[in-house]
Amino acid sequence: MSTPRIRKAVFPVAGMGTRFLPATKAVPKEMLPVVDKPVIQYGVEEAREAGIEQFIFVTGRGKHVIEDHFDHAYELEALLEAREKTKELNSLLESLPDTGSVSFTRQQKPLGLGHAVLCAQHLVGDEPFAVVLPDDLMVGKPGALKQMVDAYNEIGGGVIVAAEEKTREETQRYGVIDPGRTRGNITEVRGVVEKPSPADAPSTLCIIGRYILPPSIFLELERRERGAGNEIQLTDAMARLLGHVPFHAVTTSCARYDCGDKVGFLQANIAVALERPDIAPALKRMLASLKF
Ligand code: G1P
Repeated sequence: MSTPRIRKAVFPVAGMGTRFLPATKAVPKEMLPVVDKPVIQYGVEEAREAGIEQFIFVTGRGKHVIEDHFDHAYELEALLEAREKTKELNSLLESLPDTGSVSFTRQQKPLGLGHAVLCAQHLVGDEPFAVVLPDDLMVGKPGALKQMVDAYNEIGGGVIVAAEEKTREETQRYGVIDPGRTRGNITEVRGVVEKPSPADAPSTLCIIGRYILPPSIFLELERRERGAGNEIQLTDAMARLLGHVPFHAVTTSCARYDCGDKVGFLQANIAVALERPDIAPALKRMLASLKF
């Protein structure tokens, strides 16, 4: 039997973004711009590159502008057309997902990442799917999810997470992997634990916000068991799949910027701008002139 294709991606975007107040009082954190695109759009483009056809957003109160962002803006488009601002018009149209490819559901209570994914169960159905945490901005070619889908096809299914080495002190902020054998950039996963204390972390190889999951994850999430922070943790549900399905971590060649953190967000802006030929020369001059 051939490995089923990954057609759907879930984007948990219900978080309140309290770390970015007051900016996120009326604007969802996923809509904050990295250079000139909202953070969420990078995640969607990465997913599209990986072959994703259905984009499922798990939103919450006050997140409706995300829906507007992925819809036509008729007045704006008409105005840009009338003024012959073709470049700007094209940038809007290019970022529009295909008709019928976007769905929204709500996480009514902030009960954790596992709960957010569970909220998408009825839209995912009985097939393997990807989860993209847009706060983790991945920059590189091929994109992180594409590299993971390639690994998934090579292995022939199961759970795939993206991973990155962190310092021991940082392990308390992540899902941490108990690693088995490594071949190339793929490591067997023997165990995962959510936000362990540094002394208890099984390694310093941490999960970052990209996942490929089998539909059987929903059976585990449905148990609604609380874990770290008294939340329903995706990591705990994945841990219960160990031994039942293959489980691997992919260390992608992409750079990862944590846009959920102020310094990470600034770093993402600078890194992405430095890759842009229209901005990089002026930015480099500006950075060189900064005095600390
Ligand atoms: C979530 C996951 C964690 C993972 C992290 C990656 O944590 O629960 O396992 O390592 O994303 O960014 P959060 O950042 O939501 O606390």
